[in-house]
Amino acid sequence: MPVTGIDIEKCNGCNICLTTCIVFRPDKENHKVIFNDSDGICNDCGKCIARCPQDAILHDMDDVSCEFEGVKHPETIISYDEIYKFIRAHRSIRLYKGKKVDKEKLQKIFDVMRYAPTGGNLRSERFSIISDPIILKKLSDAVVEQLNKNKEMHEQYGKLFEMISRIFKSPVYFDAPHVVFVESDENNEIEANNIGIIVSYGRLAAQSLGLGTCWNGWTQIAMRHNPEIKNIADLTGKRVGVFMLGYPAAKFFRAPPRSQKSIKGL
Ligand SMILES: Cc1cc2nc3c(=O)[nH]c(=O)nc-3n(C[C@H](O)[C@H](O)[C@H](O)COP(=O)(O)O)c2cc1C
Repeated sequence: MPVTGIDIEKCNGCNICLTTCIVFRPDKENHKVIFNDSDGICNDCGKCIARCPQDAILHDMDDVSCEFEGVKHPETIISYDEIYKFIRAHRSIRLYKGKKVDKEKLQKIFDVMRYAPTGGNLRSERFSIISDPIILKKLSDAVVEQLNKNKEMHEQYGKLFEMISRIFKSPVYFDAPHVVFVESDENNEIEANNIGIIVSYGRLAAQSLGLGTCWNGWTQIAMRHNPEIKNIADLTGKRVGVFMLGYPAAKFFRAPPRSQKSIKGL
């Protein structure tokens, strides 16, 4: 449990933590606060740490970057206009330069992924990356073989795989130099959301670093139909999220149009 108590010297009894979480109780006599998680409610979300103006919540978490410019006013970090354009310019990349991405940049992507929210703040997902073209080819071949065995998938993708197999050595990954995996031993609906959010965070972080990505549902489906395929990628999780990553070789001159959505109730 990362929250270990309250620094009584720092606590000024402002009671903000009481409005944050029920593990805090007022200590009226001393105009302070009592931390009591005997019911095991704390899920390590850390909001009490983030909200205490006195920095009086004691914890044993070793994250270094909790205070940074804009943290108090996140709306000043990036404007709606910028995020709108950043998201509209976000593309699935299926054409990559062969060049590998250096370790420092890759680490930055994983650094953002670990800040993705997860249901219950369980954060049980594991991350990995494969950059070996021989393993990626083996994985790509296994995915194509598996999807072709499935009647529906074969009808939907059989021809496409045939075509792209003539162009790429690892057609499933369009010869991207890296493929990123997010796996989890949880196997429920919320976990599917968690993995989706983590993948999206990683992909957006990659875009900010000049990199291109593409979600790879094909691998996920193939691994669900045939869990043996996971061995090739040294994965053991019940649920997996996959995206490829590299320097984009495709240029876009405009964002593609998307149809309007009517919004019930607005
Ligand atoms: C959950 C999910 C799974 C996807 N799986 C694949 C995939 O297996 N192969 C692929 O080439 N593209 C895949 N895509 C990319 C979509 O085809 C793409 O997002 C869509 O065509 C819109 O294009 P854009 O992302 O460039 O806007 C996937 C996208 C999502 C969100």
